[in-house]
Amino acid sequence: MGVTEMKLEKYSENDRALYECLVFNEETMVKNLGRTFTEEEAAFFFRAVLEQNSEGNEFGFYKVFVDEPDKEEYIGMGAITMNDEYEAPEIEYMLLPQFWNKGYGTELVEILLNMVQGFSTIVAITDPDNTYSRKILLKKGFESVKQYRNDDGEHAELFRLKRPILVLRDMVFSDIEDYVRWFTVETEWMKTDSPWENEATTPEAERSSWTEYYESVRELPEDSERWKYEIELDGKHVGWVSSYVDLDYVDNPGHIPAVGIDIPVADAWNKGVGTQALQQFLGYLKKRGCKSAYTQTWSGNHAMLRVAEKLGFTENVRKKDYRMVDGKLYDAITLQIDL
Ligand SMILES: CC(C)(COP(=O)(O)OP(=O)(O)OC[C@H]1O[C@@H](n2cnc3c(N)ncnc32)[C@H](O)[C@@H]1OP(=O)(O)O)[C@@H](O)C(=O)NCCC(=O)NCCS
Repeated sequence: MGVTEMKLEKYSENDRALYECLVFNEETMVKNLGRTFTEEEAAFFFRAVLEQNSEGNEFGFYKVFVDEPDKEEYIGMGAITMNDEYEAPEIEYMLLPQFWNKGYGTELVEILLNMVQGFSTIVAITDPDNTYSRKILLKKGFESVKQYRNDDGEHAELFRLKRPILVLRDMVFSDIEDYVRWFTVETEWMKTDSPWENEATTPEAERSSWTEYYESVRELPEDSERWKYEIELDGKHVGWVSSYVDLDYVDNPGHIPAVGIDIPVADAWNKGVGTQALQQFLGYLKKRGCKSAYTQTWSGNHAMLRVAEKLGFTENVRKKDYRMVDGKLYDAITLQIDL
């Protein structure tokens, strides 16, 4: 996430001028298509854009705006279409030249990828000479699949991203036994979570308290606020995200939620799952009207600190030598993010 707010809105009937200033822009279009659109093509494609945008799902063509220091600026287009050959969403992006090399391309790709969370394969097509665009895609984990010539005879390169499907969902009955294992046998994750809190427990005690918890949250109405979601990765339950307002050592009169995450399944670590899950959860909180969120950790939890950094959290409160872990003192750290 960048420092400026990026906003995407689908093009509508009145946006033809915005659309045309992009597709008639020589510098932008040469990088994308090798030439600008003709008048006829612009008219034809704008009709197609409106038709696609009328479908009411995440697929479509979006105007992209950013808050530059003095005003909101239209910087270009982001799009999600269905690539029939690969049966996967294809992301597209075109920025006006004055907004190149400012990190907006990367931010836009991140937003588009987040909009198609439910898909494990995503494709993108670029001109192989478009080094800026190639760099963004490679940085985001895409791999080059093939180079070819498009219908115009121009060089094109197809990139593909394969990623696990990550879903945040409510608890189901079979999760109870996962929790029993995670709190009694597979406990490696506790060494970095809040090791100063760990208490002895038994499978019976865990089974009883997780069953009770499950009963209290099962069949929640669709629209009721969730403070906890289970993380499912490629269909497997691997952990949870949660939010709370009673912060440790920080007053919170505004009841700003703090988010927490635990992935007890160690096979899932360091693959971007934690970052993606928290990003989805922060998106959920934002949708519910939260303007800001905290997260709390300690200076020995390098993975969590890195996740917070990748998401754009900044340090807010640091209590020096506040935590004792294995006989060593560590700082307690609270970080904050504007949503
Ligand atoms: C913290 C946790 C949620 C992170 O989830 P994850 O899926 O591994 O996170 P990601 O893969 O998105 O990111 C982890 C980052 O930390 C980095 N990292 C991991 N261990 C590290 C270490 N010892 N030192 C420095 N960086 C480290 C990874 O390289 C990665 O950064 P990168 O993407 O720049 O390479 C997960 O490790 C976990 O559940 N740990 C146990 C419980 C816990 O500590 N919860 C947090 C409580 S505050």
